[in-house]
Amino acid sequence: MAEALLTVAGLTVAYADVRAVEGVDLNVSAGEVVALIGANGAGKSSLLKGLMGLEARVQGNITFAGSDLAGLSPLRRARLGIGYVPEGRRVFPGMTAEENLLVASREDSAARTVRTAEMYALFPQLAVRRHAPAWQLSGGEQQMLAVARALMTRPRLLLVDEPTLGLAPATAQSVIRVLRGIAASGAAVLLAEQNARAALATADRAVLMRLGRIEASGTAKAIAGDERLLRSLMGG
Ligand SMILES: Nc1ncnc2c1ncn2[C@@H]1O[C@H](COP(=O)(O)OP(=O)(O)OP(=O)(O)O)[C@@H](O)[C@H]1O
Ligand SMILES: [Mg+2]
Repeated sequence: MAEALLTVAGLTVAYADVRAVEGVDLNVSAGEVVALIGANGAGKSSLLKGLMGLEARVQGNITFAGSDLAGLSPLRRARLGIGYVPEGRRVFPGMTAEENLLVASREDSAARTVRTAEMYALFPQLAVRRHAPAWQLSGGEQQMLAVARALMTRPRLLLVDEPTLGLAPATAQSVIRVLRGIAASGAAVLLAEQNARAALATADRAVLMRLGRIEASGTAKAIAGDERLLRSLMGG
């Protein structure tokens, strides 16, 4: 098997008085969607932030495309090819949808135009709303815009934090389906979700987190079939 694009070993992310992530090992290969599933406070966001270099107290090894990420700033990580969509779809509200896309790119204007068109092909709804200010977009459209913006730089690995939060089921499914397409085009996707059903329906593999640690992992299909495990993890 080819070497994973992202390899994480013994990752710990700590805040002043809490260890949000403890001793996590995982890997993600090009072309696959890995779902990171856990309840509120499990450490999903902290793990993604640790990978992106957004938290100060991080220990362990992170290797991406053969590079050790230790000590690299978030910007350096982004330039190596890691895209990040934070929780809460933080688009620039006063800019149009199109401006949100254009500002994310460092390419020349011809290349940016090509890439923007690719994003509109991926999210046809954004093409319709391209000249609307982002604050006027629906929650689902804003989430699509947040994902499209992260894709403008053609990342090799996309970290996505709870893209379905607050979306109607059909919209949630369409956002997640796009992630499948992104992986099919050769990128790797690490998808943090509380919406276990939606994530498992799309992912290749799943990693279940509880209290900062990995509780179980396996193929999405096997995990989806383990009702008892999911119920104990997510409650309800
Ligand atoms: N900036 C912070 N300072 C202190 N503690 C934090 C901070 N961010 C998160 N935590 C704590 O770290 C733990 C993990 O939080 P995290 O946000 O990573 O979980 P999560 O799995 O993303 O949860 P959710 O599904 O609610 O987004 C929680 O106990 C949380 O309270
Ligand atoms: Mg979170």
